[in-house]
Amino acid sequence: MNTLQAYFKAPSNIALIKYWGKREIQIPENTSISFTLKNCVSKTKIICKNRNADKNISVFFEGKNNEKFVPKIEKMFQLIKPLLPWINDYEFEVHTENSFPHSSGIASSASSMCAIAACLADLNNQMLKKNELNLNLISEMARLGSGSACRSVFPNIAIWGKHSKIPFSNDNYAIDANNFLHENFKNYCDSILIVSNKEKSVSSTAGHGLMKNNPFSKVRFQSANENCILLLNALKNGDYNSFIEITEHEALTLHALMMTSTPSFMLFEAESIAIIKKILEYRNETKTPLCFTLDAGPNVHLLYPKNYKEKVHEFIKNELFQFCYNNEVIHDEMGNGVEAIQQ
Ligand code: DP6
Repeated sequence: MNTLQAYFKAPSNIALIKYWGKREIQIPENTSISFTLKNCVSKTKIICKNRNADKNISVFFEGKNNEKFVPKIEKMFQLIKPLLPWINDYEFEVHTENSFPHSSGIASSASSMCAIAACLADLNNQMLKKNELNLNLISEMARLGSGSACRSVFPNIAIWGKHSKIPFSNDNYAIDANNFLHENFKNYCDSILIVSNKEKSVSSTAGHGLMKNNPFSKVRFQSANENCILLLNALKNGDYNSFIEITEHEALTLHALMMTSTPSFMLFEAESIAIIKKILEYRNETKTPLCFTLDAGPNVHLLYPKNYKEKVHEFIKNELFQFCYNNEVIHDEMGNGVEAIQQ
């Protein structure tokens, strides 16, 4: 075989209903829902050749050979083997870079695993002489790399995890949920307030593991599934108040779960709490429909409708910059999902 190559870009996503707790193999304990972002992306090229050596994966991050990422990608490729039986017969060079600064503390696994999965689906097409990209296959392979990555495939909003009340929802891959988006939620914005540039003190994978013995886990998985329906109704009806209530409740629940695990983790910094208080105050005073959500770390995501953008940017500059590491804020919004890059 001649050398084949594929080049894709995939975005990060921000969960509104959080995935926190999983079973083998990468099966979520509850349904999750996320907004797909536009500016926080990974661009990944995979070069694929016949295998000569024992070691079949090398990774180049931002141009430099990077051994640290190899084990995670090796594991993903092993899990993908039933879907792409040829995968062990080839050798892969993975070249990847992120649009967001390395120092931002933003997890890149969702965007990078999704971009890798898209490259593999494209290589599969090239081998089988097929044209159409199979988004479900990309999402399923991305999930095997990192659970949340499976939601990055689709534009604007995606749902992952089987839910008895959501048609077509399933544990293997995410589904497009654009049919739930009222005009009020189109082009929604997310300004990411960078509080710390430190690596996470607990990896998501270890965090999911802690849910096995968390005393609140059963109640949590049930309430997440209930919140999915409440959130989808809010999105469908253009109801900002319910959206805000559910989204903030989910964010705080995620952190409460970490605080009540053994061992426990406190992932807020003082600045995270100061920012949250300012957001609540500002919402109360101005009635602007903005709200916060959090990942498994100290950074705060500020979510708001696009027509409030100027006003909210002004608020960030005047009131929130002071709490951000190096005044760093990444302004993002809903985006397109996975896309091929012309070579
Ligand atoms: C808090 O997808 O990073 O961001 O499947 O172990 O790779 P693995 O975990 P990961 O977990 C993400 C957790 C979260 C919430 C979410 O994105 O739903």
